[in-house]
This record gives sequence, structure tokens and C-alpha cells, in this order.
Amino acid sequence: MTQPAKPATLPTLVPPPAEFAAQANVSGMEAYKALYESAVNDPAAFWGHLAETELDWFQRFDKALDWQPPFAKWFSGGKINVSYNCLDRHTKTARKNKAAIIFEGEPGDQRIITYQELHRLVCRFASSLLTLGLETGDRAIIYMPMIPEAAIAMLACARLGIPHSVVFGGFSAEALKARIQDLEAKVVLTADGGWRRGKEVKLKEAVDEALKFCPTVEHVVVYQRTGSAVHLESGRDHWWHVLDETAREEVPAVELDSEHPLYVLYTSGTTGKPKGILHTTGGYLLQCTMTMKWVFDLKESDTYWCTADVGWVTGHSYVVYGPLSAGATTVMYEGAPDTPAFDRWWRLVDKYKVSIFYTSPTAIRALIRQGDHWPERHKLDSIRLLGSVGEPINPAAWEWFHRVIGGNRCPIVDTWWQTETGAIMIAAMPGAVPLKPGSGTLPMPGLVAEIVDNHGNLVPEGHEGFLILKTPWPGMLRTIWGDPERFKEQYWSKVPGAYFTGDAARRDKDGYYWILGRVDDVMNVSGHRLSTMEIESALVRHPAVAESAVVGKPHEITGQAVCCFVTLKKGISDHEKLGVELRQWVAHEIGPFARPEEIRFTEALPKTRSGKIMRRLLREIVTSHTVAGDVTTLEDMNVLTSLSAQHDED
Ligand code: WTA
Repeated sequence: MTQPAKPATLPTLVPPPAEFAAQANVSGMEAYKALYESAVNDPAAFWGHLAETELDWFQRFDKALDWQPPFAKWFSGGKINVSYNCLDRHTKTARKNKAAIIFEGEPGDQRIITYQELHRLVCRFASSLLTLGLETGDRAIIYMPMIPEAAIAMLACARLGIPHSVVFGGFSAEALKARIQDLEAKVVLTADGGWRRGKEVKLKEAVDEALKFCPTVEHVVVYQRTGSAVHLESGRDHWWHVLDETAREEVPAVELDSEHPLYVLYTSGTTGKPKGILHTTGGYLLQCTMTMKWVFDLKESDTYWCTADVGWVTGHSYVVYGPLSAGATTVMYEGAPDTPAFDRWWRLVDKYKVSIFYTSPTAIRALIRQGDHWPERHKLDSIRLLGSVGEPINPAAWEWFHRVIGGNRCPIVDTWWQTETGAIMIAAMPGAVPLKPGSGTLPMPGLVAEIVDNHGNLVPEGHEGFLILKTPWPGMLRTIWGDPERFKEQYWSKVPGAYFTGDAARRDKDGYYWILGRVDDVMNVSGHRLSTMEIESALVRHPAVAESAVVGKPHEITGQAVCCFVTLKKGISDHEKLGVELRQWVAHEIGPFARPEEIRFTEALPKTRSGKIMRRLLREIVTSHTVAGDVTTLEDMNVLTSLSAQHDED
């Protein structure tokens, strides 16, 4: 393994390359400013006009925005369908034979699906869902590998107005169960398994396990991907291909209200229970479509690849809904970047002539570590634009991405957004806004992002504070599924009248935003959100564990790693064995991606007088091995001292 190259000094300002600016959808600062201003000055007129010109409606809306804080309705009275906008409207134009999805499976199988063909496959699957008796408003869980059928399942649900919740294939049966129960899903759409690092991820087995506790589920549809043996419960489970035998070729898209729920995506919050973030139809689709054009500068001829899994919000907005609504060719790859070797991604870029490449800093860091010889074997000259999401991009990763992958010619759009925001909120329009490496740069049109202190007062320029969003935007979450009170409390009560992002940031003299990371008990591990409380709850379910506290620890590749402090029940002491077991336990309870990096056993945990665990102190211990913060509220200083000392001992 080679060492990552030392970052060269980074330029502080990278203007759009002239050639790029000349062809850009939004070219020059003035054009960006004009868009921004007109959206701020009259959001309803700005978004209303775009909704009419960029989307196809069955019935025009009466009102662009109905804002009863914190509840927004966009395009009320309008009738629309996401699947229609992603498929049918393109099949009426020259795009009908354009590739909608270019897919490559990990074993190397390849499929190129045109818009017309995707429309046909989605209709056929929608027909199968109708055969099972599903109706508009019923809910579906999608637990699939990264194969076209995941997108087909999403689009078929959208076509019928069946809100879906995609559960990332790396989640365990336990996590799947909790999501099925919260959504009260009627159907689960899954596969026998998928391929990852040459091994089969057995999805149907996890579904069987979860369904022992999910009485609302009436049907399971299983796509045959790997061909391994699976159990089919008679009367409940159906093969996708068997249902398909009698499917219809045409199923009309249901004319849905603009605010009809499109999907619920569960994400980690500050409690042990994941939050079901609700996105609806018209507004969400508009924001995804526009950001494809503004941030990714999408052109008819582009081949666009976002490496995210459909199980995360990036996979929803920028693998499926955004690209297809905008008529793009979107690339899907099933497997791991290192299979069969560390140049798999670069092979794919050259093979399919990818022109826009969107990935995460954690992936970039992992690839840097393997050495430049992997990308150097490939031309990569089809790429014209790079994108990054998930966490702040560190200087070494920025420099490498720009030089080695982008050949020093491609802008990098660093896109800040969240599951809750639905689409990109802060990012450069690459033909307009000069980049500053490490900064997301400027907000999207109409978005008023401010940085405030604990009391909601603006902090001075350059100072750190909480990032809040002051104006409603079309793609915003509408509520937490089944829990409007938690929605109000979590997002709208910290700073009255504003959306609280949970991120710290600062804004510099040019108005550029620098995101500094989470301020709540949410960790960011490999660009995935994990809640400390969720892992703590998993740990205390283990019979040997009395109490636990979990914090994120800085990690070279994954950004943060999960570090758990654990106190054991009396009489239990086999630390070595338990350390291994507890890491495995968390992987089983939540999913392998949540497996802790480290378990530290301790006699007691540092607590305030009221009994709250002081995670801040533990964070300091794992970060700097010393504690400098205020400790006057600590109940027992000895606990802290022995924890700090532990590091020096080992
Ligand atoms: C972080 C992913 C800095 C941030 C789309 C946010 C980022 C959380 C960036 C949301 C970025 C995402 N720069 N930080 N470009 N993008 N984040 O919901 O902490 O999985 O709050 O959505 O990731 O994660 P989520």
C-alpha cells in the first residue's frame, strides 16, 4: 500500500474554467446572482414558473406555496405523478431510445435500459403490484441490491401512489423490522440477494427474519438476482418473474395530489428510534430536477454517475428521481469499488464514458490509499465535472480528486444537503461560482442560510455557529412519519421560525459557507449518518451490558469511527471475548456498516448531576486523550480521571 501523497498547497479560489463556463447552464456570477435574487424576492413566482415549465402536470396547481410554519404545501391543487415525469414524458420525445439506466453488476453483467424500455418494465411491475391488490396509499418497503429493479420498484410505487421506504441492503433484519413496523407496510419488495465483494448478501433471509414480527405485511415480491435457494412462504411470497408472466404492458400513472407522499426514508436522529423523513411529490421532484441542471450542469449528451446506494437519500434524489426526471443517462453499479481490483470504478468510467462523477470524500480517501497507479491505468478523459457529498471534503482528498481524477480540468461541486432537505442546498453552480476547496460555496436559489448562536442571534462573519435555514423550499421534508410533534421539536423549536440543520458552519467575507460537522449526537461514518443513541440502545440489549455511551472518533478514511464505552453487569469480566462479541452484536442489530471500531470497557461513565452521560467529555477523550472542557457539572471526577488515564496505560 502506498502512502497518500502529501497535499500540495491548495489554491484558495478556483474560478470556473473558461471552456466550462462557456457551455454551462448557468454561466457567470451575474447569472447565479440573478437566479438567487429572483427566488428570494418572490419564491412563489420563481418556483411556480419552474414547476410549470420543467414538470408535466395533469392539472395545474392553484397556489405555488402555502406556508403554515412549519408545515409547507407546494403546488396545492396540482395533479402530478413522479413516474410519469421520469418516464412517460421522455418516451414522447427523441429521448425514447436514449439510455435511461446503464447498469453493471459486480460479476460484470451489463444492461443498458432505454427510457422506452424502462417505462415498459415499470408498467409491468406496477401491473404486478395491482394484481396483488395494492392500492394508492398502501405502503411498500424496498430492500434490494443496487440493480435496476430497485429503481423499477421505486418508480412503480410512485406510479401507483404507493409511498415507499427503501431500506439500505446493509441494514440487518432488526433494523428492517423496525422500519416495516413504523411504516405499517403492506408489501415488501426484495431479492434473493445481491453481490458484494464476491459474496452474496442474503436479503430474503433477513426479510424472513424480520417478518416474524410484522403482521401488516401481506405480500413479498422476490426478484431473482443471485439464484441461490430461498424460502417462499406460500400465499405471501411471490417471484417477481412469475408475477411478470401475466403483467400488462401499459399501466397509467395515477393522477396524484402534488402533496401526495412519495417516500419515507428513515435516518438517524438523536434518539434510539430512527426518524421517518417524509418527502412528497411535486416540490421534491422540482428541486431534484433543477439541481441536476444547476449543480450538475446536466446536458443531453452527459453520462452521469452517482455512486450512492439507492438505500440513502443521495440514491433517491441523484441516482433515480433527479436524473430520470431531467432525462439523463444514469449509471448504476451493484458492487464494491475494490472488486475485482481497486480500479473497478475507473474501469467503469472509461467503459461507459462517464462525464459527471459524483461520490463521497470517504470513498475518495479509501481510493487514495491504494495508490495512484490504479486510476493512472485509465484515461478518465470523458469526465468533465466532479461532485462530492456526505461530509466536508478535506484538502488532501480535494487535491487528489481534482488532479488525479479530474485531470486538473474539472470543477468539483461540493454539495451540502441532508435527507431532510431532499435535494442539494449549498453548492456551486460550476460555470458560475468560483470554488474554494473545502467550502460548499453558495446557497441554491431562494435559500436563506444563516449562522446563529445558542440564542438564535446571528454570529459575526467568520465565526462558528449553528447552520439554520430560514425560508421554506420545495424539496423540504414535510414531517416525520406519524410524529408531527417530533418534527416540530427536532427541527423547528431550537431557533423559532427556522429549520435547524444540526450542523455547525461559518460564513466567510465572500458569503461562502464552510460546514464544520454535526453539533448533535449524530456521527458521520463513511458519509452515513449513525446515531450514538441507536448504537447505545443496541448495546444495552446485550445481556452482559449494563450501560454504554457511544461517540465518534476521528478516522483517517471513514471520517469518524464508532467508539463505544461500555460498563458490564456485575461479575462479567471476559473483556477480550466480549469486545469481539459486542462489535458483532451491533453489526447484527443495526447492520455491518455500524460495526464499532472500538469497545472500551469502563467501571462507570461520566455523568452530570442529573444523570445525563457527558458524551462531550468522552469525545474529548477519544479525540485528544485529555479533557479541557468545563467539568463542574460532573458527578464523579474519579470516573473521568480513570477514563483519561486508561489511554495512557494502553
Ligand atoms: C453531512 C446526505 C459537509 C452534514 C446527503 C449533514 C456534509 C449530513 C456535506 C446529512 C457536505 C452532507 N459538506 N457536510 N458537502 N454533505 N454532509 O442525511 O453533517 O445522510 O447534516 O444526507 O451529512 O447526511 P444525510
